[in-house]
Order: sequence, then structure tokens, then C-alpha cells
Amino acid sequence: MQRRNLFKVVLGASVLALAANAAFAQETVKIGLILPMTGPFASTGKQIEAAAKLYMAENGDTVAGKKIELIVKDDTNVADTTKRLAQELVVNDGVKVIAGFGLTPLALAAAPISAQAKVPQIVMAAGTAIITERSPYIVRTSFTLPQKASVMGNWAAKNGIGKAFSIVADFAPGHDSEKWFKDSYTKAGGTMVGEARVPLANPDFASFLQRAADAKPDAIFVFVPSGQGATFAKQFVERGLDKSGIKLIATGDLPDDDILNGFGDAALGLISAGPYSTAHPGAKNAAYVAAFKKANPSMRPNFMSVGGYDGMHLIYEALKKTNGATDGDALLGAMKGLSFESPRGPVTIDPATRDIVQNIYLRKVEKKDGELYNIEFATVEAVKDPDKASR
Ligand code: PHB
Repeated sequence: MQRRNLFKVVLGASVLALAANAAFAQETVKIGLILPMTGPFASTGKQIEAAAKLYMAENGDTVAGKKIELIVKDDTNVADTTKRLAQELVVNDGVKVIAGFGLTPLALAAAPISAQAKVPQIVMAAGTAIITERSPYIVRTSFTLPQKASVMGNWAAKNGIGKAFSIVADFAPGHDSEKWFKDSYTKAGGTMVGEARVPLANPDFASFLQRAADAKPDAIFVFVPSGQGATFAKQFVERGLDKSGIKLIATGDLPDDDILNGFGDAALGLISAGPYSTAHPGAKNAAYVAAFKKANPSMRPNFMSVGGYDGMHLIYEALKKTNGATDGDALLGAMKGLSFESPRGPVTIDPATRDIVQNIYLRKVEKKDGELYNIEFATVEAVKDPDKASR
């Protein structure tokens, strides 16, 4: 009898151990990272993937007792593909978070999946203001274009630029940039002398630059998405605009640190407004840039990369707060209101909008040690998305 009892106890204990093991094996939290890894916006995908992997290498792949697994998928910048991948990752792979989203149409395509499945969607790149309103489970760690364009417009009007011509890529973040540059610039006393929208696919800026030059502005304001800056810079120089006396001002998307060195000295003096520069001062960013370059010797971390790095931090911190619980409402609750020190400076997730609140820096392209950098010279602190604040 005693022996049988003992046998039962031993058997019971090993069943429990087995069950615990099985439970442990299930304790993997999968994160689906959906990005354009090929095509004209591949640099956004590569920057974010590199930064997310760096974050995991630095912070380990276990949080609150759960193993973190990152599944990277290439949506090739096709919105239908983003949506299909988001669905497959949630339904078949059981991911608890979807993240990435290199462009606005791609972020919008995944929003219904996040809303229906109640799965957190971390937007690490796309910057149109309305994105976060398309699912209550969206949190953004990148930026909004109104944040950058409004700061640029206000600075320009107050710093001797009386007349401006705006050129933007003809899709939602370009429209946001145009509206918010114009709004803040004219409110601060500037005069718009023209506006142009350039097709997103295979852009040819030549005729738009000619129109801008003919309008004789003091400055041309530009938004082009990360990945297109080099084409713009080349055509700007080809038309002789670098020698025309017309200043070039932009959102930080144009003088993207990933490709800025390729612009050549024509970029010197370009002024932009953005949340991150490779040259941002401070120990946190110095360590980030050094580690990023060590892991990716041919790259400089750009503003897209910090969206990926901070997005991973947000997921890790949320899991710590929920003690590893992964349901969407618990994770969202943990993310709302979170503040932390990013390589870009202090950031907060606005609990009301789930959008990022961050410093926007004014920067000027300068040469340091033979390389071109966006050197910060002024800071507008804790900028909320002005588009949502205005509604
Ligand atoms: C966007 O599609 O929202 C987007 C893409 C590239 C940028 C900024 C915004 O540099």
C-alpha cells in the first residue's frame, strides 16, 4: 500500500514536471515583425530589423520568464501582403504582437487585424497622424509628420525665411507634412508661394524643382520618405539649385543618416526638423551608435532604427509590467503612459492617443571627421502630435 502510494506520488510529481515542462515550452512570446525588406524602401526594413535584433542581443531573449521569438517577414511594400502576413502571423503562428510597418499604407492595411484580434500593433516607422486611430491596439514608436513639419514651419518663419515653396511626396504622410508646414509657417508670419506633390513611385523631381525655382522662394520645404532622399538631392544639384541661393529645409526624412553621406557637399547647410540624428549628443546614443555599427559595419543608425529599438523596449517593458501576461488589453494598459530614455532623448507614449511624445530637434548638415551629419542646434521639447491635438 505504502509502496503504491509512493509510486503514485512519484508518478504524480513527474506528470506535474512534464506538465510544467510543456507549459514552459509554450511560454514563448512570438513577435511578428513585418517590414519592407526589398524594393525602394528596403533601407527602412533593414534599419528596423537591425535595431530590433540589437535590442534583443543587448537585453536577452527572456522577459518575465517568457522566451521572446522574433519572426521577420518581408511585405515587399505591398499593402495586401502586409495584411495577409499579419493575419497568418496572428492566426497560424500565434504571435502576440505585430510590429514594424515601414509605410503608412502598410500600417493601415494591418490595422483591422490588430483591432479584430485585439493584438498590439507597434508602428515603428509609418508617420501619418491618423494611423493610431485605426485600431485601439496600435501604439506608435516612430513619429508623426505633423510633429516634424510644424516645428520646421515655425522655425523657418521666425528665422528669416519669408517665402517658401513646398514639395512633398503625394501620399498621406506627404499631405500631413504639407498641411502642417504651411499651417505653422503662415501662422508665424511666413508666406507660401507654391506647393507641389510628386508621385511616390519612381519620383522625378525635375519639373517640380523648376516650378519651385521659378516661384523665387527663400526656401524649398521638402518631405520625401526615407529611401528617396538621394534621388532628390541629385536632381536638386543637377538643376543648379544648390548654387541658386534658395535654401533647402525639410523634415528629417530627407537627410536620412543612412544615406546622407552619399549626398555630397551639396547637402551642407541643409536644415531639418526630426526626432533623431546619429550625431545626437549624450552617452545613451553614443553607446547605441557604437553597438549598432559594430553589429552592422556598413550602416549608420537612422531615425527609423530608433523606432524599432524603442518598439522592442516598449514590448519588453510592457511584458515586465504584466508579469508575462500577453493578452492585448493587458499589454496596451502597460504601454499607455510609459516614459523612458531612448537614444533620441526622453519619450512618452501618450496614454490618450497611444502616439509618441518626443523632442523635435532642429539640425544642420555639417561635416565632421570627413562624414556628413545632422548636427542639432535647437530643441523643441516633448512635442505631441499636433494633428490629433487640433481635433
Ligand atoms: C510613411 O509612409 O508614413 C512614411 C514613410 C517614410 C518616411 C516617413 C513616413 O520617411
